[in-house]
Amino acid sequence: MKLTDIPSMETNANLRTLNTFGLPAQAKHLLRIQSLEEARQAQAYLAQQPEGLSELSLILGGGSNLVLKGDPLRIVLKVEIPGRRRLETNDTLAHALHDTAGASTTQPLLIEGGAGETWHDFVRWTLDEGWPGLENLSLIPGTVGAAPVQNIGAYGLEAADRIDSLEALDLTTGELKRFDNAACQFGYRDSLFKRHPGRWLITTVRFRLPQPWQPVTHYTDLAQELAGNGFDESRPPSPHQISDAVIALRQRKLPDPADLGNAGSFFKNPIVDAKQCATLLTTHPTMPHHQQPDGRIKLSAGWLIEQSGWKGRRLGPVGCHTQHALILVNYGNATGQDVRQLTTAIQQDISRQFGVSLDPEPVFI
Ligand code: EPU
Repeated sequence: MKLTDIPSMETNANLRTLNTFGLPAQAKHLLRIQSLEEARQAQAYLAQQPEGLSELSLILGGGSNLVLKGDPLRIVLKVEIPGRRRLETNDTLAHALHDTAGASTTQPLLIEGGAGETWHDFVRWTLDEGWPGLENLSLIPGTVGAAPVQNIGAYGLEAADRIDSLEALDLTTGELKRFDNAACQFGYRDSLFKRHPGRWLITTVRFRLPQPWQPVTHYTDLAQELAGNGFDESRPPSPHQISDAVIALRQRKLPDPADLGNAGSFFKNPIVDAKQCATLLTTHPTMPHHQQPDGRIKLSAGWLIEQSGWKGRRLGPVGCHTQHALILVNYGNATGQDVRQLTTAIQQDISRQFGVSLDPEPVFI
């Protein structure tokens, strides 16, 4: 097996245009994986190398949750596997039989997407086909295959709430494995795949959409947007109208990576224990805080960063966005080192002022 057996191999590729932050890094070999067969070819090539899987630097989707530090990379696999379909009776028979125990006789609504499909286009396609359930996740950058990796979430819904199962190629063994929802070990912006970068190449993802459909509109910002559009309990919004409201909110609040490089929320919202939250509330009574099912409290990283004075501030060619403090942006020609410096500066300030540590959401490569 040779790398040149994969038709779309590029050498010495700059990844600047392949990550939404617009950070530069050189890849010795960039392979665009457009089918399971090509994924298997790449795996076979890696297996033959004396250094094995450590030749692989990165599995790339839409590049929207990534900070390239700038080190030279060896092999990068860019996943571009297409495909959109509703699973037919035969494909879903196993699930349907399973469902009889739960008294539901409805045909499950299972939709499958190829890992390389653009996430937002996939969401709008499901809505146009009359298969609602993903509308709250409209306009999130990235691909279908990347959605489970960091368990994307917004406006009261996470990918994990809708993922039925997925298929991934184990790059260490060449085995194609199906993971059900529990096997993905989803957490807040986390999964098994995020914790083992470079091992699993996700090829397809199946979504189990709710039947009957129920709108998910409890997230404060979304509820306000919908109320402003004239919707209420007597006039509930349609799935398309929820999607449109989410799109409007995101376009107002979040910078478009096409205009200003960024990787979405840069820090996870920190989760602290009840005692620490109570102490912080004595000095900061207006601090937003949300009770978690396990008794701990989620704080708002955006609020903490804004309070620390970082909102709208720049450090060289990078900075904290003027409209949303949780988004770090590239004002032009930034490098991974610039992003690293800003990250550290913000983390140190938040730790000093609030005693809270902030974890970055994107992966540093
Ligand atoms: N806030 C501020 N100042 C800011 C930004 C936010 O004070 O500059 C406070 C406000 O109190 C606001 C609260 O933070 O009410 C929450 O803000 P927002 O609703 O924008 O949500 P978020 O917690 O900052 C999370 C996700 C986003 C997702 C939104 C909407 C994380 C890390 N981020 O942001 O996800 O779109 O909720 O559901 O959980 C992403 O992960 O890339 C992402 C954009």
